[in-house]
Amino acid sequence: MGSPYLYTLRKWHLCFLAEGVAWAAMDWMEIVMSENKIALVTGGARGIGLASAKAIAKDGTKIVLVDLDAEGVAAAAAGMGGDTVGIACDMSKPAEIAAMFDKVEAELGPVSVLVNCAGIAVNSDLLETTLEDFQRVIDLNLTGTFLALQRAAKTMVANGIEGAIVNMSSVNAQLSIPTIASYCASKGGVMQLTKAASLALAPHNIRVNAVGPGSIDTAMLAGVNENPDAMARVMSRTPLQRIGKAEEIGSVVAFLASDGASYITGETIYVDGGRMGMNYTC
Ligand SMILES: NC(=O)c1ccc[n+]([C@@H]2O[C@H](COP(=O)([O-])OP(=O)(O)OC[C@H]3O[C@@H](n4cnc5c(N)ncnc54)[C@H](O)[C@@H]3O)[C@@H](O)[C@H]2O)c1
Repeated sequence: MGSPYLYTLRKWHLCFLAEGVAWAAMDWMEIVMSENKIALVTGGARGIGLASAKAIAKDGTKIVLVDLDAEGVAAAAAGMGGDTVGIACDMSKPAEIAAMFDKVEAELGPVSVLVNCAGIAVNSDLLETTLEDFQRVIDLNLTGTFLALQRAAKTMVANGIEGAIVNMSSVNAQLSIPTIASYCASKGGVMQLTKAASLALAPHNIRVNAVGPGSIDTAMLAGVNENPDAMARVMSRTPLQRIGKAEEIGSVVAFLASDGASYITGETIYVDGGRMGMNYTC
């Protein structure tokens, strides 16, 4: 990952130096590359998006946080310090997404890591679900993810950047809950979008993966945290017997975005306390 120039330089160091020195040289080059890397994280004002951004920033990558919540994203960027940038954008609006990428690319340069984390869930009885509610979830979780992925990938290809894209799916890509049909459909769509995009972008050495969280302690889970019955139901399907932390998703996102995952593409990694393996009730 990184610019072609730096990558060539890294190979040169490896070829011409003795083994011990070569590793030292490579480490140094990776630090230089990180300083030149930009990661854009949507849904970055809080929760899993912010935790992912913090995990990615550990190697010196510059972070651009994007969120609908203008005040929240500004506060999150200030909280991360350094040169983190916060941008307000509705990731369900195609024109806003395009304008946001135009601004980032003009002012900061092309991104080499994209994390699509902005997402919502709307609870409703299937028979009562309105087209507006269904569409609202699809527009953000699936169409917004597609538009950001496509735009970032086009810029990566144009600039010869061997980048990484991480989409936020869910265990609900495969496991369903009757009252969130739109959410399940959107996350199943994200899983397939991830696979198709990974095939389309493999010739450009751009990797596309997804993370599928189980139940994670963020604002999205507020209804469960406040309801002992709902919590008991969640625990009955969580082998590790606890709710996950946003940081436990962020670390996996950062891994997938890093060169440590350089041979992984098209995968959804489920970070769910063991839920996907369950096929029984106690
Ligand atoms: N928390 C969980 O248990 C869980 C489980 C599986 C998947 N996920 C996924 O993780 C992602 C992050 O969710 P979270 O748990 O951190 O919830 P969260 O509600 O804390 O964070 C979501 C963020 O997305 C932002 N957002 C909402 N609508 C937006 C829009 N139109 N444009 C831009 N930003 C918008 C919100 O302002 C918020 O900052 C979502 O895609 C969610 O579906 C969460």
